[in-house]
Amino acid sequence: MIEINDLCVQFGGVKPIDGLTVTLNRPIVGLIGPNGAGKTTLLNVLSGFVEPRRGWVKVNGEMITGVPAHERSTFGLRRTFQTDQIADDLTLLENVQAIADHAKFDSRDAEKKAVYGAIDFVGLSHRLNRKGDALSTEERHLAEIAKALIGNPKLVMLDEPGAGMTESESEHLQKVIKGIPGYCKAQVFLIDHDVELIAACCNETMVLDFGKLLALGPTLEVLKNPDVQKAYLGNFDDLEVAA
Ligand SMILES: Nc1ncnc2c1ncn2[C@@H]1O[C@H](COP(=O)(O)OP(=O)(O)OP(=O)(O)O)[C@@H](O)[C@H]1O
Ligand SMILES: [Mg+2]
Repeated sequence: MIEINDLCVQFGGVKPIDGLTVTLNRPIVGLIGPNGAGKTTLLNVLSGFVEPRRGWVKVNGEMITGVPAHERSTFGLRRTFQTDQIADDLTLLENVQAIADHAKFDSRDAEKKAVYGAIDFVGLSHRLNRKGDALSTEERHLAEIAKALIGNPKLVMLDEPGAGMTESESEHLQKVIKGIPGYCKAQVFLIDHDVELIAACCNETMVLDFGKLLALGPTLEVLKNPDVQKAYLGNFDDLEVAA
């Protein structure tokens, strides 16, 4: 569960988050909003890359505001980046192993199981020894997710994992994202502009509009909200939604 209270972030004259108070407690929560709405900034606050000017965030009842980024990772906060962080000159296995090197495992066997398990879970077991620069865009996004699943995550935050994917790639991504709570018991916080992906995966969705909460609730209701449709200049009447 993510509890956000009166959160404000300011960069000079820009306030990408402006007095946000919200509680997010469904297994897969979506976050949508126009470009520059403050979505990545919120994720940066949650993961410790940006300190808020005011307000606080708790995850599963624990205060994380003020805790350094590396301690948040030990606590179980994981994220992917809008621009993936896959090292081009390392293999897929080495990229994922590098995360495991910083996590605590009871044994070498447990560590190996976590690394190979995460790669298998995202469907990339056939790419283990392929170098980062030889992976496709889809495979790099999936590799980022595999990295985020190492070491008992409590909250997995995904920043536009569907960007640049074809329809069939996005369908595979949907299955992977929906499987995360069952795979490792983590809550998922998903940012994406692909509203079909959000609708298919997220039980609950929030909409940010220039730092303010525009809507929050069951995904279908939120997408039918006239204010949300106005912000997106469209309607989403034909979408298939998550249960
Ligand atoms: N480090 C920073 N310094 C100054 N301004 C910033 C910084 N990070 C973000 N901003 C500004 O904050 C606002 C929100 O940016 P943010 O990246 O959170 O938007 P976003 O919703 O993720 O957009 P997108 O959909 O394009 O990824 C923008 O006006 C952006 O220029
Ligand atoms: Mg962003």
